[in-house]
Amino acid sequence: MSFNVNLSERLKQVASFLPTGALFADIGSDHAYLPCYVCLQDQTSQAIAGEVNEGPYESALRTVQQFKMDDRIDVRLGNGLAVLDQQEVNQLVIAGMGGSLIRNILEEGKDKLDAVNHIIAQPNIDARSVRKWFIENGYVLENEGILEENGHIYEILSAKRDIRKSPYQEEIKERQLLFGPYLMREKNTAFFNKWLHEYEKLQRVLVQMEEAKVKDQAKVLQFNLELKWMEEIINEIDNQK
Ligand SMILES: C[S@@+](CC[C@H](N)C(=O)[O-])C[C@H]1O[C@@H](n2cnc3c(N)ncnc32)[C@H](O)[C@@H]1O
Repeated sequence: MSFNVNLSERLKQVASFLPTGALFADIGSDHAYLPCYVCLQDQTSQAIAGEVNEGPYESALRTVQQFKMDDRIDVRLGNGLAVLDQQEVNQLVIAGMGGSLIRNILEEGKDKLDAVNHIIAQPNIDARSVRKWFIENGYVLENEGILEENGHIYEILSAKRDIRKSPYQEEIKERQLLFGPYLMREKNTAFFNKWLHEYEKLQRVLVQMEEAKVKDQAKVLQFNLELKWMEEIINEIDNQK
């Protein structure tokens, strides 16, 4: 039996945001690789692995048994935060889903968040909607990560409740919500590649929207504005090279 979990770089980076001695839930855990990796690395961590689908739930059970982690990782079948009791965990990980699904899971499970002071989210798309949910619900974004793996670019958001200083500035808040306040400051290669790709994609969408018989003018205006922001940030990085 192997004692190493072969974890993706994406999930390793997600795991790196957890503190030592974490008492956390991984919602949408699939094979439960992340909680096994964390609990094998840190003997003081404990986790709940939540899964809504039978197949991944069974896989999670098998992985936890394989690593003999049954006493520290509890695998539960259920929708979102419904698998949790009140005050059971202090940190929450939700990774590998769309931003709107992450947002829905958080919104529907609000009553389970009393003791959750730290949320780590890794939305595959639409990180902005998760950043907005944090603001609306008293969680302050305290760090972000972005990485490229196997041709995909992933953003990771870490938000805490006990932080006072907001990373947002009113005059550029909309841009910060789109790009990520920390990521747009760091502007690393993965960030550049992501926004170059998004810029080209949005350009194609706008051409199609302009050609459509019925135009959603408000959306066209908003998309053109975002296209301009993307162009500005890409040029800024290009000029610094
Ligand atoms: C793409 S996988 C990501 C797995 C893992 N978190 C990762 O990042 O690699 C998404 C998982 O979330 C589960 N899932 C989707 N909606 C869920 C929900 N509402 N509650 C719990 N699990 C959910 C799916 O069954 C699937 O196993």
